[in-house]
Amino acid sequence: MKIKLVKSTFYKEGETKKKLADFILGAQFLSMGAETRKFEEDFAKKQGRRFAVMTTSGSAANLLLLQALKNLGRLNDGSRVGFSALTWSTNVMPIIQLGMKPVPLDSELETLNVSPRILTSKIKGLEALFLTNVLGFADDIEGIRKLCLESGIIFIEDNCESLGSKVSGRLLGNFGLAATFSFFVGHHFSTVEGGMVATDDEELYQELLMARAHGWDRNLPEKRQKEIRLAHRIDDFFAKYAFYGLAYNLRPTEIQGFLGRDQLGYWDEIVSRRASNFTAFAKVIAANPDLISLELGHMELISNFAVPLIAKDKKTFERYRKIFEENDVEIRPVIAGNIVRHPFWKSETKTETLPNADFIHENAFYFPNNAELTEEEIEYLLNLLEK
Ligand SMILES: Cc1ncc(COP(=O)(O)O)c(C=O)c1O
Repeated sequence: MKIKLVKSTFYKEGETKKKLADFILGAQFLSMGAETRKFEEDFAKKQGRRFAVMTTSGSAANLLLLQALKNLGRLNDGSRVGFSALTWSTNVMPIIQLGMKPVPLDSELETLNVSPRILTSKIKGLEALFLTNVLGFADDIEGIRKLCLESGIIFIEDNCESLGSKVSGRLLGNFGLAATFSFFVGHHFSTVEGGMVATDDEELYQELLMARAHGWDRNLPEKRQKEIRLAHRIDDFFAKYAFYGLAYNLRPTEIQGFLGRDQLGYWDEIVSRRASNFTAFAKVIAANPDLISLELGHMELISNFAVPLIAKDKKTFERYRKIFEENDVEIRPVIAGNIVRHPFWKSETKTETLPNADFIHENAFYFPNNAELTEEEIEYLLNLLEK
């Protein structure tokens, strides 16, 4: 048997592709419009946020969010921004690209996430925390929220791997000022490429709308459009091409908006399957003394992205790596391991000690969990964990 990390482009692939083909045949325009707006509204509602802004990818969402915070003057050149060392490249890269100072934070081995303990040790001078919710897991994220609040730190979440996970009745992505999401193939649901920023902050929402598309006011609500034109003394003709703040073009297409609306309908089904698969894997991992078991009892719902196998030492890691590879199961590093060990990282903080991120880098990998795993495939994976 061969088990790949990504089984299909879409949940219910056949039906979705047919619906997509019909949509394209019937659509007049495919550039961003009503479908995308509707998806944003539906997503915001499902996530329990006031606003959502769709982008071309999760990476684009990260870049956009940081740019919007800079445009608003809430972050500045040189601002110190904490981030999880266990993360993806395009979580930390925009911090560097936008002239801010990235401060890597270690993870707890028991949760793979930053804890209040770790944040406290690096909190001095931080202006923002861009936390990654790793693989659908969280540490004491409420404690992190409180610490940021008390210290005047802007708290934002990269929730690209954790759609649907919950702690104390609250979805991950709803603890900070704003959160980003990815709809790339293999994530909880896919629009092929796609991302989102969600927030309750109206001022930030309006800045996101402008920074997503050229810096113009065209996508703003009418009232705000009028205000901004008046403030800058721009009449309706020149407003067509007036640019107010630093921006990009990170707009999705209607194809992505359509796909998002369709796949959003499967949210609950996808999340509950990923959660129950994870419970089965976690039970076997906990019973295996060669593996390190996560402590996630504080989480209400674990919408797992992929399953981490953390070996107790390098020799055990190599043994399990061989078992999985020889049995045709696709495995990858846990996100990117310690991201500051990658060649792009040239900061003076290179010598920083991040012992747990290093341990994960060297002794862990992840294997597939997705909503379409069959019982036979789950059994097959469980057997490998018992070897
Ligand atoms: C934590 C995290 N942030 C950002 C991204 C980037 O998302 P995208 O592939 O949609 O650009 C990923 C991708 O897997 C990720 O894991």
